[in-house]
Formats: sequence, structure tokens, C-alpha cells
Amino acid sequence: VADGTLAILGAGTMGTGLAALAIGHGVPVVLVDTDSAAVDRAPAAVRLHLRTAQLLGGLAVPDGAEDLLRTTTDPAQMAGAGAVVECVTEVADLKRGLLRTTADVVGRDAVLMTNTSAITVDELADALADPTLLVGAHFMNPPYLIEGVEVVRGPRTAPAVLAAAGTLLRKLGRRPVVVGDGPGFVINRILQRMINDAATVVEQGLATPEAVDELFTRCLGHRTGPLATADLIGLDNVVDTLRVLHERTRQDGYQPCQLLLDKVERGDLGRKSGTGFFTYRTTEGP
Ligand SMILES: NC(=O)c1ccc[n+]([C@@H]2O[C@H](COP(=O)([O-])OP(=O)(O)OC[C@H]3O[C@@H](n4cnc5c(N)ncnc54)[C@H](O)[C@@H]3O)[C@@H](O)[C@H]2O)c1
Repeated sequence: VADGTLAILGAGTMGTGLAALAIGHGVPVVLVDTDSAAVDRAPAAVRLHLRTAQLLGGLAVPDGAEDLLRTTTDPAQMAGAGAVVECVTEVADLKRGLLRTTADVVGRDAVLMTNTSAITVDELADALADPTLLVGAHFMNPPYLIEGVEVVRGPRTAPAVLAAAGTLLRKLGRRPVVVGDGPGFVINRILQRMINDAATVVEQGLATPEAVDELFTRCLGHRTGPLATADLIGLDNVVDTLRVLHERTRQDGYQPCQLLLDKVERGDLGRKSGTGFFTYRTTEGP
């Protein structure tokens, strides 16, 4: 590992949440996004995540934690980072190009992690000169409140890279659960189809979003229903992830239903926009 800095690519929902998790554990972060508006918004978003992590997760944030955050539009600033988590939009070609240039910037000593929801690690690793360097680290949202991380071992991931990712995750207080590679891995292979079905039930007028989720919470004992989960993920990301799954499996159950597409078209993206299947008083709040 080159140095203790964690580079995070993408300053959206997951990137800012991961930045809070890392600096909250005393790990310096360089947060990179090509969208200067996202970079401008990031420090305030990270501060809000930190406060939430303290209030709801009992995270003992060290003094001066906010000074550990650097934000930039310049990918060259990642040079010297010991680890990278790629957290950009769920589009395979975008991630592949970015991982290739990132590997050149950080060099062979850095652990390369992708937070992709559904694209196989091996498909992304193929873009690298050395495909053994990439491992999947599928964090849940918000990453500072959810302890488990689905760690994906690609068929070519080096054992040392898998081990280094595990060490970093434990340093961040997370619990890695290692699984094999495949579209959607384990969680999203199952969850995204369920969200799509739940949205279809609403589209067909069989139940309201409230009724669907109440069945899961009050009858099945789940902590949240599938539609509140979809709002938390972000409906744009749900549609992108379903498309990735559909393209790679050709299974109809992954074809995003019209209601999901309509909501994304309208900009009703869930918590991050204030409205999705449900409405929220503040955006991105817990
Ligand atoms: N939202 C979730 O609950 C969740 C959970 C686990 C994993 N993921 C995955 O994490 C990734 C990010 O999801 P998100 O919800 O944070 O998305 P988001 O839309 O909130 O943020 C994505 C960010 O990536 C940036 N970006 C795009 N191209 C870039 C580039 N070339 N260089 C740097 N930044 C670039 C965008 O400007 C945006 O700020 C996706 O792969 C998603 O599937 C999301």
C-alpha cells in the first residue's frame, strides 16, 4: 500500500457516504468527480453524513476529521493513494475507462476496489493491464451505518488484493462477506428483481407503495420494504442496475418496469431528490 490515503472516484450518494466513513475512522480521503457542481456540494454532504454517523451509528469522529477530506476534479490528485474505491455512475464503459486511467495514476501498489452494483468484477478488470488488481467492494447505503460489505472476488482477483481489501474494510469498522463474481453478485441479483416486481405491482394498481412495504415490514418482519429501499438507493441507480442485469442475463424480470422509468424521467429519484415512491422532508437525510 503506497500511503494511507483512500481515493474515492465519484462524489455522489455513495462517494460522499464513503468519504464520511473513512475520515470518521481517521483515514485521509481524496474525493474526485468530473462534475464540478458535485465537487462543490461534497464537503457539506460529507459533513451531514458525519453528523448522521455520530447520531445514529455512534461513530466517534476524531477531532479535525473534516481536515482529512480533499475534493477535486483532477484525477491526478489520486497519485500516492494506497487504495481506491470507484463509485461512479453504473455504466460499464465509463467504469472501465476510468479504472484503466486510475490504475496508471496510482500504480501497482494501490488496492483497486469497485463499488459497482451489478457489473461483474471480471468485466471491469478486463480493462486493466493487470486484471488481478481489482476486487469488488459493494457497500450498502449509507455505508457508515451498514456494517456488512459484499466483497466480490473476481476469477482473476489476486489473493493478496482480496486480503488487502479485507484489511482496509476492517480498519473502517466494516464486516466483509466474500462471494463469487456474476451479474448483481448475490444481493442485487435478488434485490433488484424484487424491487422491479414491487414497482410493477404498484403500476398495475394492485397495491399502493405503502401497502407493498407494509406487507414486508409488518408481515415478514423486514426492517424496510422494497420500495423504501429503492428510494434509498436512488431510482436512477435502480434503473441503471436493472439494465445491467437485463443485458447480461436476458431475464425479463430485470427489465425495468414503466413506472420506474417514468419516475426517473420526471426526476423523482427517491431520497436524493425528495420524492420517489414516498416523499421526504429533506434530501439525502436518514
Ligand atoms: N446508491 C446506492 O444505494 C448504491 C449502493 C451500492 C453501490 N452503488 C453503486 O455505486 C456507484 C455510484 O452510485 P451512486 O448512487 O453514488 O450514484 P450517484 O449518481 O449519486 O453518483 C455518481 C457520481 O459519479 C460521478 N461521475 C460520473 N462520471 C465520472 C468520472 N468519469 N469521474 C469521476 N466521477 C464521475 C457523477 O458526477 C456523480 O457525482 C454505482 O456503481 C452504483 O451502482 C450504489
